[in-house]
Amino acid sequence: MRTETPQAIRLSDYRPPAFLVDEVFLTFDLQPNTTRVKAKLSVRRNGDHAEPLRFNGERLKPVSVAVDGRALAEGERTIDAEWLTIPDVPDAFTLETEVEIDPENNKALEGLYMSGGRFCTQCEAEGFRKITFWPDRPDVLSRFTVRIEADKAFGRLLSNGNLMESGDLPGGRHYAVWNDPFPKPSYLFALVAGELDVLEDSLVTMSGRTVELKIYVDPGMAPRAAYAMDALKRSMTWDEQAFGREYDLDLFMIVAVRDFNFGAMENKGLNIFNSSLLLADPATATDLDYERIESVVAHEYFHNWTGDRITCRDWFQLCLKEGLTVFRDQSFSADMRGEAVQRIKDVKALRARQFAEDQGPLAHPVRPSSYLKIDNFYTATIYEKGAEIIRMLKTLIGPEAFRAGMDRYFERWDGQATTVEAFINCFEDASGRDLSDFFAWYEQAGTPRVSLASRYDEAARTLTLDLRQETPPTPGQPQKKPLPIPVIVGLLDHEGRTQAFERDGQAVDETVVVLDAAQATVTLTGVDRPPVVSALRGFSAPVVLKTDAPAKDRYVLLASDPDLFNRWEAGQGLAAELILARAAGRADEVNEERYAEAVARALSDQAADPAFKALLLALPSEPDLALQMSPADPAAIHEAREALRARLSVHLEPELRRLHTGLQDLGEFSPDAAGAGRRALRNAALELLAANPRHDIADLAQGHFQAAGNMTDAMGGLSALMQIGGAPFEQALADFYARWKSEPLVVDKWFAIQARDPSEGALGRVLGLTAHPAFEGKNPNRLRALVSTFANFNPARFHDPSGAGYRFLADQILAIDGFNPMTAARLVDPLGGWRRYRPELGALMKAELQRIAAKDGLSKNVYELATRALG
Ligand code: PHE
Ligand code: ZN
Repeated sequence: MRTETPQAIRLSDYRPPAFLVDEVFLTFDLQPNTTRVKAKLSVRRNGDHAEPLRFNGERLKPVSVAVDGRALAEGERTIDAEWLTIPDVPDAFTLETEVEIDPENNKALEGLYMSGGRFCTQCEAEGFRKITFWPDRPDVLSRFTVRIEADKAFGRLLSNGNLMESGDLPGGRHYAVWNDPFPKPSYLFALVAGELDVLEDSLVTMSGRTVELKIYVDPGMAPRAAYAMDALKRSMTWDEQAFGREYDLDLFMIVAVRDFNFGAMENKGLNIFNSSLLLADPATATDLDYERIESVVAHEYFHNWTGDRITCRDWFQLCLKEGLTVFRDQSFSADMRGEAVQRIKDVKALRARQFAEDQGPLAHPVRPSSYLKIDNFYTATIYEKGAEIIRMLKTLIGPEAFRAGMDRYFERWDGQATTVEAFINCFEDASGRDLSDFFAWYEQAGTPRVSLASRYDEAARTLTLDLRQETPPTPGQPQKKPLPIPVIVGLLDHEGRTQAFERDGQAVDETVVVLDAAQATVTLTGVDRPPVVSALRGFSAPVVLKTDAPAKDRYVLLASDPDLFNRWEAGQGLAAELILARAAGRADEVNEERYAEAVARALSDQAADPAFKALLLALPSEPDLALQMSPADPAAIHEAREALRARLSVHLEPELRRLHTGLQDLGEFSPDAAGAGRRALRNAALELLAANPRHDIADLAQGHFQAAGNMTDAMGGLSALMQIGGAPFEQALADFYARWKSEPLVVDKWFAIQARDPSEGALGRVLGLTAHPAFEGKNPNRLRALVSTFANFNPARFHDPSGAGYRFLADQILAIDGFNPMTAARLVDPLGGWRRYRPELGALMKAELQRIAAKDGLSKNVYELATRALG
């Protein structure tokens, strides 16, 4: 147990910074174990007060502190584990400090650390305080000049902004000086030094300026940065066209590193990426990797305006940059890859991660009001639900007012640190609407449940919709208020034809109904034929919708809804019902056949996009189904889902085989959406064929695996073989490892596939893999590949009735917390759902959480999540 309870930080306690730093000159003398950091700051008192100066500083070995050129004696300043305090300072002065740090032994990967023999930094959210004494908060914006000195073995010396000067130093050393003309908070600071290859390109911006683009990677890897470069250029041009945003420096750099706690980081002019989200070629990366690279490159680039030029006043405003930037990258991906397919994928991710979070003890508002460690709030709620809120805002006020509001935001807040209120206010001004009710979406946690009942009056040709909403309580918020929920509604007839109707005297095919009270009744007129209601089109709000429509209506939607999202959704709803009925011991074989028949028809639709069909073919995931069963029984869900897969496989066999043969990639590999869609459908067909209980398709899967000309197909084959199990799978695993053992990103996939294996002996294998020579226990990618994949994507084995799966996870969390609290804390989440599971499982999960919380010397990160999860 921790001896003292850490102090919560509250939004209501926000005070402007007592001191500002206008300018800083940093000098890094880089040495793996004894790096010296000198900082010269122009400090200014902010406002009329006599408070002492208090700057953050952690794990710094102080060498000297001077004010206006005079070294302070011990008694004139104090330094404890978290703060430098100087009781008495002038109103404006120069502060000079020198500290020593040890990057080589920094395994928390926060601050300045070494990865693959290179120096690199990660400062968001509070890493800069591990580099030098600083008011480490996002509302202190400063102009940085950085001088880096290092041995010439560290060939490239990089920091934010523009290179001002570089040259040789005595003793085989060299230096570089960088200046960033844009004031920025410390969390956007970055430095990289090491041996790197570079891929170079350039782009002419909308005003005709040429920007140099450089992507730095491990020696020999430059060709693998080509796709990221292409994605970067498309992102830059897209942001000009979609939001009028032009890049502002003459140079934009990205560096890939192997050891990184998150996905990537938007440091001004010098993005740093987890190499898994940057490097790709057809042989080593899957289509999913390409897709994620495209979206993360865009995301980090888009931050240049939403995050860097305009930043957050405090960390409670995190969604101001993250939700908005996710919305922007989702819009970009939709334009690149097709709106419906993108929307379905985004909603799947939202449900899998954010809905689960909202239903458990870790539920929190998109703008929380207190935290212990801000690192713990880089969550699906802040990112994904944050993006959904922006999307609803656009739906509610319309695309023109939305764009006008964004323009205002950029104009009004450029160069400043601001708040969510200030952001929403721009849209109030642009639309002339009062959005105060809308703001509740930011402050209220939980997923609203919306119910829809409809009544058709044939004589009056009216359709009455009765809508209700209710949000279940979440920790700290027992009472919920109604939220403004945009529900997009369209009508079909029973033959599946679009049915126009009237709204406010106008003939329309579709309308936005805004449910802004607990209950509302809306009447649509001019409805000529008995309707099938297609509601919440495009998933127009992040809610759980229940309608009173009979199953037959959902078959109509599955066959014909012009809104492809709802077409997919109808299929998912039907499948979920069948699986849950089976899991509860009420298998409905007649309707299972009917469902299989409907999927067969959808598959044979020549006009449909293969990527869309691949999504149609996939049943709802086990974690998703677990959210819909109370209490959740993972074993029963797994069995029932497999049974439906087996039935589909038998029923669709000829068609699946046809797809598998017909979609073979003949030409050259292209990572574009069309090629990826064909591969996705072909691999989905194989995956389903592997569930066939009647025919052994081991040969087909083996052939697929061996003939694979790219990693997507290799993983597709391996995944099918995993389901079949036995010798063919073992052989394929061994071959795969032998071929790829020197490629870390591929070895991650090798660990991950074994972690996903739902078969009986898989837990033992996972335990054994932690002792494999390739298990790099300090590398977050490798840890996630094994531990996080197992806990999040293998419910059948994670929820082993013995509790061994939970114990494994808890052991890992405790071990990792010893050196990397950020990464350890992110593993707590799968145990957080303990109340939703069968009581005997829940008790075992809870016991592991208790064991974690009771551990001596636990980090604040893990302590906060474990205690909240115990709730
Ligand atoms: N700000 C990063 C992003 O979303 C995420 C991140 C947070 C990275 C903290 C590292 C550390 O783009
Ligand atoms: Zn981001």
